[in-house]
Amino acid sequence: MNISKENFQNHSMSKLIKGAVVPRPIAWVSTISGDGIRNLAPFSFFTVASMNPITLCFSIGRADRDKDTLKNIKETKQFIINVVSESLANQMHESSKRFDADIDEFERAGTDFEDGDFIPVPRVKQSPVHMECELDRVIEIGEGNLVLGRLVGYHIQDDVYEETDKVNPYELKPVGRMAGDYSYIRDFFPLPNDDLPK
Ligand SMILES: Cc1cc2nc3c(=O)[nH]c(=O)nc-3n(C[C@H](O)[C@H](O)[C@H](O)COP(=O)(O)O)c2cc1C
Repeated sequence: MNISKENFQNHSMSKLIKGAVVPRPIAWVSTISGDGIRNLAPFSFFTVASMNPITLCFSIGRADRDKDTLKNIKETKQFIINVVSESLANQMHESSKRFDADIDEFERAGTDFEDGDFIPVPRVKQSPVHMECELDRVIEIGEGNLVLGRLVGYHIQDDVYEETDKVNPYELKPVGRMAGDYSYIRDFFPLPNDDLPK
């Protein structure tokens, strides 16, 4: 299939990009509003922006409204990224549904919460890894808002942690986003000539 210059506009590039930039990790972002309402939502336009200082980023689109996650982050300047393991996929998906700003989305998703260790933001109790972030900046890109957060705290479940400072992927059981579907990430393979340090 050759997409010509003339034809480019006739294709849904958003669908073609979401199908080609895969698998995407999912940032399950928890926030709290200035009024103390807990919020939870998944974002798969998510990656690491810098290792020094460690900065994570994810992009919030607009669709037809300002999303609560963005409003809360602008208000409190804090958020937590919870890793989604396979057993949490359904609750994560539930939390992606549209709820009014005064609804506790932990309750709606059926998710237990506890406060972060470093910042007063709720996190998903069963999530294997929590990354606690202070807002660095929001960069507006058209209708998108790239949220950059400085890592200020990290929590990992004992059974997922391996000496020294390794994350066991078989215990993490992360879920990936493929276009509009989900994928298991559990099939690893070695390259015969790979001698890079792990
Ligand atoms: C797996 C998954 C990934 C998503 N990724 C994004 C994303 O990267 N950016 C975005 O704006 N919305 C994304 N969404 C949609 C938001 O989760 C959805 O708009 C949610 O209602 C926002 O909640 P909020 O208003 O509480 O912030 C995604 C949804 C799902 C199910």
